[in-house]
Amino acid sequence: MIKIFQDLTDWTAFRNSSHFLNKRVGFVPTMGALHEGHLSLFRLSLLENDITVGSIFVNPTQFNNPEDLKKYPHSLERDMKMLSDLGVDFLINPSFDSIYPDNYRYKIVESELSHDLCGQHRPGHFDGVLTVVMKLFNLVVPDRAYFGEKDYQQYLLVRDMVKTFFMSVVIVSCPTIREQTGLAMSSRNERLNEQQKILAAAFARILKVSSRCENIREELSEAGIKVDYIQERWGRRFGAVHIGNVRLIDNVKV
Ligand code: PAJ
Repeated sequence: MIKIFQDLTDWTAFRNSSHFLNKRVGFVPTMGALHEGHLSLFRLSLLENDITVGSIFVNPTQFNNPEDLKKYPHSLERDMKMLSDLGVDFLINPSFDSIYPDNYRYKIVESELSHDLCGQHRPGHFDGVLTVVMKLFNLVVPDRAYFGEKDYQQYLLVRDMVKTFFMSVVIVSCPTIREQTGLAMSSRNERLNEQQKILAAAFARILKVSSRCENIREELSEAGIKVDYIQERWGRRFGAVHIGNVRLIDNVKV
């Protein structure tokens, strides 16, 4: 049975107890509404560590769009059952006030990569991500933490933050898990209707086409998909689009 901690004082006391002595701790931070993509991270953590801790916290400071935050799916009961069945040991599920006792007076700000790609279209997004990840690392004190390549820019920013601040956690990246249609799994996919799911699958398919970014952008527009950006970096092609009022991102090796 998984044990859930909603009170961070309880959690910290427990984390400092002898239960964790000489144990390797793996950590998977999430915002919940779990799917196979998340579960793949937990599975790897369970393989590589003695104890696996997850977190579910829908972090308001990384949502630049209030509507997106309001509509973000929640399914705590279901998520807990999924993690329990997998054999995950502990879950922390803190409140906003306990994670942000300063009401976000202090933040982690990165000044280059965080303004590129998604950062250009979502001001402040990565400051919110890095700040909450730093807080969660300080609470969980993991040996390893697991991040999906689905959010590749996020992975790079967390990896470099850890290096920059001499933090001892190892950041492990995990491949993107996709639906049969090729669509990258995402909690936001739950908000797509059947028609929109077909468009979302077309986004995944067209992003892979071996062509120039301008052509990909054009092809997506012709398919009726509103493009935020298509850009290549680090041997990968990154894309962000809007389908209805859902923003989807993906990236593929080129
Ligand atoms: P969330 O979107 O819930 O994702 C949690 C982790 O699961 C991230 O590392 C993400 O890259 C990974 N993930 C999501 N979909 C995936 C897929 N289809 N295949 C593989 N991995 C996938 O990312 C966040 O939450 C937040 O920004 C967080 C890091 C928790 C900070 O709030």
